[in-house]
Amino acid sequence: MGPTGRPLPHLPQPPPPAPGRRMQAEIIAMCNQKGGVGKTTTTINLGAALVELGYKVLLVDFDPQGSLSVGLGVNPHTLGLSIYNLLLTRDHTPHEVIHPSSVEGMDILPSNIDLSAAEVQLVSEVAREQTLMRVLNKVRGDYDFILIDCAPSLGLLTINALTASDWVLMPLECEFFALRGIALLTDTIAKVSDRLNPDLKVLGILGTMYDSRTLHGREVLERVVQAFDEQVFHTVIRRTIKFPETTVAGEPITTYASASPGADAYRQLAREVLTRCQSL
Ligand SMILES: Nc1ncnc2c1ncn2[C@@H]1O[C@H](COP(=O)(O)OP(=O)(O)O)[C@@H](O)[C@H]1O
Ligand SMILES: [Mg+2]
Repeated sequence: MGPTGRPLPHLPQPPPPAPGRRMQAEIIAMCNQKGGVGKTTTTINLGAALVELGYKVLLVDFDPQGSLSVGLGVNPHTLGLSIYNLLLTRDHTPHEVIHPSSVEGMDILPSNIDLSAAEVQLVSEVAREQTLMRVLNKVRGDYDFILIDCAPSLGLLTINALTASDWVLMPLECEFFALRGIALLTDTIAKVSDRLNPDLKVLGILGTMYDSRTLHGREVLERVVQAFDEQVFHTVIRRTIKFPETTVAGEPITTYASASPGADAYRQLAREVLTRCQSL
């Protein structure tokens, strides 16, 4: 029995991807308008776990706070170019803005506070919701996965992320108010798939910061499974100080503490994500 109260499915180690494959990235948005639920942590560590399996991954920092960039050792204040320049001007190609990360095979499209101005400036653009999609279409053939770290809001930036994505993954902190706001989020996803992106599908709901030692943690997870059933990933991410430590170190947990349970949890999530991308 897994932590979600359902039997864990068999999640085999997938074979390495073929070296000469034609890439067409699956694009996944990490989305929850609540802050501090594990969006950025999941983007970095799911990305790193997919790279360990041999895939090429691009992480898109789509939060003006730039936490993803910081978490991978990119200083947002000293950036010459950021995703802002790609969204609002035609002067640069994505390749000028994309940085390699400390993990080989994982690149990053960084952001900084300029992105909050983009949210305002985009309002007057034609086809404003498709702006990120147009940028990512130019690099889709270079990666197997593109993971978008969304800002904690349901504004125009997040609508852009959902419009550009094939999938949405919702991290949910296993604490009392976790389910508040989820109706608004699923409603937004439904509207985007209705009006802007019929290909958008829910990849799953990920329980994060889970504490199995408290009755409270177990109860919250049980309620999440009651409400969302098969949408909830079997993988649950436990609360551990190792994650805040990785942010300071500027690297993913898979390299910072490779043998830790947290690293293994994200490796299992990567296998679950692969299985779902192939079967849903
Ligand atoms: N499983 C976890 N256990 C403990 N701390 C975590 C865990 N996941 C994330 N954190 C920490 O919680 C804070 C918020 O996480 P973050 O991924 O930045 O959330 P979000 O992007 O949704 O705002 C960060 O300091 C992060 O290091
Ligand atoms: Mg974040």
